[in-house]
Formats: sequence, structure tokens, C-alpha cells
Amino acid sequence: MNNLFDQLQEQGAPPALIGVVRALVAATGDIAQRVRRGALADILGATQSENVQGETQQRLDVIANTLVKDYLLRCPAVALLASEEEAQVVPAHQDGKYLVAFDPLDGSSNIDINAPIGTIFSIYPVRKGIAIESEAQFQQPGRAQVCAGYVLYGPSTLLMITLGRLTQCYTLDPTDEVYRLTADALQIPPAAQEFAINMSNAHFWQTSMQAYVNDLVLGETGPRGKRFNMRWSAAMVGDVHRILIRGGIFLYPSDSRNAQQPAKLRLLYEANPMALLVETAGGKAWTDHQPILDTVAQQLHQRVPVILGAAQEVDACLGYVTE
Ligand code: F6P
Repeated sequence: MNNLFDQLQEQGAPPALIGVVRALVAATGDIAQRVRRGALADILGATQSENVQGETQQRLDVIANTLVKDYLLRCPAVALLASEEEAQVVPAHQDGKYLVAFDPLDGSSNIDINAPIGTIFSIYPVRKGIAIESEAQFQQPGRAQVCAGYVLYGPSTLLMITLGRLTQCYTLDPTDEVYRLTADALQIPPAAQEFAINMSNAHFWQTSMQAYVNDLVLGETGPRGKRFNMRWSAAMVGDVHRILIRGGIFLYPSDSRNAQQPAKLRLLYEANPMALLVETAGGKAWTDHQPILDTVAQQLHQRVPVILGAAQEVDACLGYVTE
């Protein structure tokens, strides 16, 4: 009974939704096998092309996108797809019940150095009264997600998943390629000992964010009165996974590096799925002014500031930035 699909059924997931998860598990299983073989599978290095966001695509970005897209397109329950690597939505089945947004390969700068990378996904119901192939299908708050999760390709391959009631972690058993439940009903401790932020952007943050992080760094002698450790894995899956397993806060605030693009992380396939996993595990997930899950995407590749993790620490941070 500790196998993923038995567990989903037990939690009341409809067969069509389980079908979508099966497609994601098959696609990410294929990616995991290639990641394990690394250079031997000829997956390292960059392509000559850029994605819709103007980022150079790594070869594995393209391979992972093709695999996830192909498996999902073959699943009859899927109506429409949105991917980090696709400029527009991709129509699947007219009578499909679900929309899937995904980041096929999160943490692309880690691929060639054999550091953690992942696939993030978010599943929504189709909206009635809106054309099935319309991008407006995705104009829903993150709270409408019926399932969200990520696969982390690390020393073990893990699946973190929620249907909105429990955040569960499954480990892929390489002997039979079955995901087995290895951590149930995860709860993030409300107080944090660790923070994750790319400090090299500090000069470009708003002064309130600078003040918050300065106070963390001051440790016992500062206004927070305790020492905080810092970690940054350059892959949101790696940092959020650490927070779900042992606590802490993750921040990717807006900054002034590029006036056209103050925030970095994408709402539909990065912030929303992580926010649902974190909130279900008792944590908080905010932009700089509202819960991430209450934000309705106005654009497919919309970006938002992200502050998530331990509930008390997110509140402490918001105390500075919303002042
Ligand atoms: O694009 C997403 C992402 O790779 C996240 O996974 C990660 O948290 C962040 O960007 C890393 O950003 P930076 O390169 O600025 O450290």
C-alpha cells in the first residue's frame, strides 16, 4: 500500500487524474534514466537556441520538454499544456479534464556539474465556458490546483506530491522502478534556522529586503537574536526540497537588475506548485504582498517574487517588506 498509485487512489484521486500522474511518472522516469547516465547518455551541454524567456536552452531542457510533452499528449485526460520551454499553450485532447503546467528541467545551470535538478508540475481542472485551447484556461489562482509536485533527480530520484491535503515524498526504487512512500504528511517547522537566497543580487534588492537579510546575517548579536545558516542550490527543487525535509525559508525577491523583469520565478510552473506543497505542509508562500496561491496568472509565463517556507519566518520577512 505504500506505492504511489495505491496511495493516490486511497486519497480519493479520480482515475483521470491518476492517469495524468502516470504520464508524468513515465516521462520523468525516462528523464531520470538519462540523468543517471549523464555524459554517457549524451545529454550535457547547451544548444544554440534560446527559449521564449530568452534563456539559452541546455540540451537536457529540450530533451526533457519533448519527453514530458509527448507523454502528456498521449494521456486522454489532458486538455492543454503549458511549458517553460514553449512560447504558447499546447493543445492536447478536446475532451480532456485537466490542464498541466510544467517546468521540464528546473535548475538548468546544475546539469553539467551533476548537481540537483528536477521537473516541476502543476495540474488544474479545465475551466467551463472558456475555449479549451485558450491560454485563458490557465487564468486561475494556484488554489485551484488539484495536484502539484516535483521530481528531484538527486542521489535518489524522489517525487514530492500533493493533492492539497497531504504533502508526501516517494522514493523511486531502482530495482523495480516503483515510487514508494518514504515520508508522509510532511510538516515544515514554523521557526527557521536556515535561509536560501542568491546573495550576489543583494545590491539590487529593495532596501527592506536588504534590511531583512542583513538582520539574519547579524546572528545572535543582531535584532533576530539567533544564528541563521545559509544554503543555495541554484535549483528551486533542491532548495524547496530541503525546506520540506528540514525547514527554513527560500527567497527569490524582485530586484532592479532588469526593469522589464523585476521577478525571476514563474508563477504557473514554479511558484504555484511549490506554494501548494509548502502550504499543505503547514508553511507559507507569499509574493511580496499576497499569498502566491491567490495570484491569478494574467500571462502564461508571468513571474512573481517568491518568499516561502517556515510560517513564522515568512511572517518575519513580510514584516520588513510590507512595512
Ligand atoms: O529559473 C529557475 C531557477 O533555476 C530556479 O530553479 C533557481 O532557484 C533559480 O532559477 C536560480 O537562480 P540564480 O541563477 O539567480 O541563482
